[in-house]
Amino acid sequence: MSLEVVPVRGLPEIQPGADLATIVAEAARAVGVRDGDVVVVTQKIVSKAEGRLVAEAERADAVASETVRVVASREDLVITETRHGLICANAGVDASNVPGGLVSLLPTDPDGSAAMLRGALAELLGVERLGVIVTDTFGRPWREGLVDVAIGVAGLPALVDLRGTPDRDERALEATIVALADQIAAAAGIVMGKADGVPVAVVRGTTWAGHAEGSAADLVRPAELDLFRESPMQALHARRTIRSFGDGDVSRAVVAEAVAAACTAPAPHHTRPWRFVALDTPASKRALLAAIADAWRADLRADGTDEDTIARRVARSDSVLGAAPTLIVPLVRFAGSHPYADAERAGAEREMFLLSGGAAIQNLLLALHARGIASCWISSTLFCQQETRAVLGLGDEWYALGTVACGPMPKGGASRPRPSIELDAFLRWS
Ligand SMILES: Cc1cc2nc3c(=O)[nH]c(=O)nc-3n(C[C@H](O)[C@H](O)[C@H](O)COP(=O)(O)O)c2cc1C
Repeated sequence: MSLEVVPVRGLPEIQPGADLATIVAEAARAVGVRDGDVVVVTQKIVSKAEGRLVAEAERADAVASETVRVVASREDLVITETRHGLICANAGVDASNVPGGLVSLLPTDPDGSAAMLRGALAELLGVERLGVIVTDTFGRPWREGLVDVAIGVAGLPALVDLRGTPDRDERALEATIVALADQIAAAAGIVMGKADGVPVAVVRGTTWAGHAEGSAADLVRPAELDLFRESPMQALHARRTIRSFGDGDVSRAVVAEAVAAACTAPAPHHTRPWRFVALDTPASKRALLAAIADAWRADLRADGTDEDTIARRVARSDSVLGAAPTLIVPLVRFAGSHPYADAERAGAEREMFLLSGGAAIQNLLLALHARGIASCWISSTLFCQQETRAVLGLGDEWYALGTVACGPMPKGGASRPRPSIELDAFLRWS
């Protein structure tokens, strides 16, 4: 197979409301568009024709309104997820090749734009089998340099699934799904240099026989398959206390990995003073919850609380812990602490170990979050130490730090956005 990439020159400056298909068809006629060709069009001219331009002064607002999630940021660079699921710098808002004083936004529906162009071009050029790709220029994580990628696709598959087909040695391919539309976009990008003013190219020689047409949406990796979803800074902010769970279980491997992360917490005197008891069988969870509930009922009766209130409060607590597929009881012990004769220093010594327990639990919660597991740290066992140790079969030196309920993320994730963090209340410089 050989590939031809032909620049289409001579397009005028595209104005809002312009009939882009007619303009592109006229210019493309000069290079002759044939059956099986792909017409590649930069996002910039599509956005201009669709009037997706705002004043430079409104750039920050435009980025914010185009963004559904900030993935990472550094100084004035922000990597965002757009409404289309695209991960790119500044939500695709940029000023290159846009008349002075304006910036362009990505098309509202780039797949829809590609489909409309494809329909009109096929008719105007009299070509039945025609592909159209709308491209933008993206940076890439881990790799320097920019590459054109497909953000809108029509008339060809965006992905070509080669799994199960044989390689040269007759071995079946196991994981190969080719991003054909991105490959074509990148090839077209070679002749569509920004400074050359070539916003259209025709790519000839690709084949996709036997593969169904697709859209650029196919190229967006679903969140549940994305191992690199959040930057570390983003993950810290995105973790929330979640008190209800989706269907399914939490794998023991994920719990083990989270406990390993917990055990990287700082601790006093080079100790590792933590223990995590994970319960994921109905019997072990029920036994813990029954012990907690019995202890709590006894405390509330001693306080003089009426039976209805006791029943309501126990049921409410049970509805979170009882619904979790896995419960993790974090504990800390004070072995290795230094002995002091006075109460102040003895107390501070003990608190150091407790603080280390808190740091370990935060790591645990973050590690679970990184694996898409929802969690909630509930005080519970803190208030019934003896009963907890008895039901978990642990010695007297262990001090329970609550219970972490965890389970699959419920649909839609955390229900409430995190209240904004007014730094004046938390940070003081001196
Ligand atoms: C030591 C400790 C005990 C907690 N106990 C409970 C609890 O008993 N019930 C509960 O719903 N949440 C409990 N939480 C979770 C807090 O309510 C939660 O962290 C807070 O609402 C902030 O939400 P966020 O974690 O999403 O930022 C506890 C948190 C800590 C640190």
